[in-house]
Amino acid sequence: MKVVTTREELRTARAELEVGPDTAGGDITVAGAARPSGVGRRSVGLVPTMGFLHEGHLSLVRRAREENDATVVSIFVNPTQFGPSEDLEAYPRDLDHDLALLDGAGVDLVWTPQVEDVYPAGFDTYVTPGGVADVLEGARRPGHFRGVATIISILFHLCAPDRAYFGQKDAQQVAVIRQLVRDLGLPVEIVACPIVREPDGLAMSSRNTYLAAADRPAALVLSRALQAAGRAWADGEGDAEALRTILRDVITAEPRAVVDYVSVADPRTLAELTAVDPAVGALASLAVRVGAPRLIDNLVLAPRA
Ligand code: PAJ
Repeated sequence: MKVVTTREELRTARAELEVGPDTAGGDITVAGAARPSGVGRRSVGLVPTMGFLHEGHLSLVRRAREENDATVVSIFVNPTQFGPSEDLEAYPRDLDHDLALLDGAGVDLVWTPQVEDVYPAGFDTYVTPGGVADVLEGARRPGHFRGVATIISILFHLCAPDRAYFGQKDAQQVAVIRQLVRDLGLPVEIVACPIVREPDGLAMSSRNTYLAAADRPAALVLSRALQAAGRAWADGEGDAEALRTILRDVITAEPRAVVDYVSVADPRTLAELTAVDPAVGALASLAVRVGAPRLIDNLVLAPRA
């Protein structure tokens, strides 16, 4: 596994990936023969992360490995997606452990840039997403998705992946990135992967480390609320406000939890719904403070056949 820091190192290592490690001596047919299609170019899957990796991140890596000839992971706590009062400094970091996990998972290349490698002195170009970034997380975290769209644009340009892997855990992030790729005509396929949960249902997150032991059981209220809404939807409830009420009631029954928002929205635009179209379904999502941390989770209410 190669680990690089600067943009230049990344560009060089990325170019090497395309022809494959076996071609270092110039024997291009070796890499060509390894591809099912018999074409010489090797496909590249990218998994962008902010590190402090857990099974959720590793599930994306495994999927990328399955679907591509080479896998690239970036580890970068991206300052432009944090608000001034957010946890940029405190965000958990453990690079040595992350690299050991990625090596064990068979990753080919890891980019671990410094801030100045991503945002060189004088950097002054940002990508501002539209309406899909203005609601839910975007409404509570102004500028967050501008930071995400900017770093993802830089990553896509430097890594030139065939496919990029994101977790459905951050459903709005997936929607924003799909819109970005569509609007700018970026030649990359976006793959959304299922939420990985702890055995008791808590969605895995690097920020779960902020949970006090006494608050850990209360954090289950997020997945419990979503399951209740999911059952109601499966039983025929299609009124979005009724579904939001179910979400809110389960959360408010837990004294250690404070609702930030509950949402039942169009899965494409994330606009709040009045009635859920059975042919389209909805995204049920919520943000809840449990002690110090603010946790998010969601559930796709699948279209009814
Ligand atoms: P980070 O929070 O490190 O997450 C990296 C990727 O892992 C994201 O696509 C996220 O949705 C996914 N992920 C996190 N927890 C998951 C879980 N429990 N199950 C499945 N996937 C999970 O999201 C970011 O970083 C950043 O915004 C980034 C895209 C890297 C841009 O800076």
